[in-house]
Amino acid sequence: MEAKLMLLPGDGIGPEVVAQAVRVLEAVAGKGGHTFSYAEGLLGGCSLDRYGASLTDETLADCQAAEAILMGAVGGPKWDDPGASDRPERGLLALRRGLKVFANLRPVRVHPELVEWSPVKPDRLRGVDILVIRELTGGLYFGWPKGREIKDGRERAVDTLEYYDYEIRRVVELAFRLARGRRGKVTSVDKANVLESSRLWRQITTEIGGLNPDVSLEHMLVDTASMRLVSAPAQIDVLVTENMFGDILTDEASVLAGSMGLLPSASLGAEGPGLYEPIHGSAPDIAGQGIANPVGTILSVAMLLRHSLGLESEADWVELAVDAALAANCRTVDLGGKLSTPQMTDEILARLE
Ligand code: IPM
Ligand code: MG
Repeated sequence: MEAKLMLLPGDGIGPEVVAQAVRVLEAVAGKGGHTFSYAEGLLGGCSLDRYGASLTDETLADCQAAEAILMGAVGGPKWDDPGASDRPERGLLALRRGLKVFANLRPVRVHPELVEWSPVKPDRLRGVDILVIRELTGGLYFGWPKGREIKDGRERAVDTLEYYDYEIRRVVELAFRLARGRRGKVTSVDKANVLESSRLWRQITTEIGGLNPDVSLEHMLVDTASMRLVSAPAQIDVLVTENMFGDILTDEASVLAGSMGLLPSASLGAEGPGLYEPIHGSAPDIAGQGIANPVGTILSVAMLLRHSLGLESEADWVELAVDAALAANCRTVDLGGKLSTPQMTDEILARLE
C-alpha cells in the first residue's frame, strides 16, 4: 500500500526517537512492499521559535491531510515561562483538539525480562496487560471558563471540568468494543462521590454497560484506582477515564513496565488521521546525547500500522521484534543498559529482518 505520513519530531529527545521510528517504518515498507511518504512539520517549542506559535494553521492542515501523524515530544525549560501567552504544550492540545482525537489508547504490558527492573514486586507484575483509554479532548484541559482575575482584591485562577454526554458516550463505547477483543472487562474510573461530571460519567457508563452484558463493568474511584494500579494491576483489563485522571494514572502505570520510555500511545477520533506518540516527554536532561529509549516511539509505529493503516501483521512484526530485542537483553540507559538510541534500534531492526 501507499500512505502519506506526517512527522512532528518536536523538542528535546523527540527528533532523536522519531528518526529511529522512521528507520523502522522504512524496514516495514521494504519487507511488506509498501511505500510510505513523509512530510515533516514543527510542533511545540521549535514552532514557537520559528513561527511564534506552538502550532500553525498550516501544520494542522498538513496533519489533517495525512493518513497518520507520528509525534515525538514537546516542551523544555527554554519555553517554561509561566507568563507566556503560548507554550509548547498548548500546541499539542490544539493539535489533539484540531484532529478531534478523543480517545487516547495507552497499552501497558510488562515484558517478562523486565519484571525485575520495575520497583513493583515481581509477583504483582505477572500477567499485567492493561489498556488505558484516556478521554483526550474534554475535561479540565479544555473546559470554559478558564483563566485569572482579580476578585475582591485577591488573585483568582479558574479551570473548569466539564463533560457533555456525547463526549463520555463515544469514549466509553470504544472501551467496551476494545474490551470485547481482550479479557472482556472494563474498569471505569471517576470521582463520582465528589464531582458532578463524574456522576454523569458513571450514569452513562452504567447505561452502556447494561447494553453490553457480555463485558463486565466495574466503577472505581480514582483514588482507589491509583492504589490498585500498583497493588493489583493484573486484575485490570481496559481502564477508561477522563482526561486529567488518565494523564496522571498513565504516568503511574508506566512504572509497572519499568520505564516511561517503553510506552506507546495512539489517539483516535471517529474519522480522520490518528496521532501516535510515546507517552514520555521531551526529557531535556538527556536531549542531544543519543541515549533516549526509542522503544515507546517504535511501538507507537506499531499502533499506527495497526489502527491507521490496517496493517495488522506488520504491526505484529514490530512488536515481536521489540519483544525479541528486550528478551535478548538489549537495553538503553533508562533500563540499566549501555545501548545508544540508534544501537537499540539496530537490535530491533535485526530481529525484524
Ligand atoms: C501527556 C502529556 C501532555 C498531557 C502534556 C505535555 C500537555 O503529559 O501526553 O500525557 O498532559 O496530555
Ligand atoms: Mg502526561
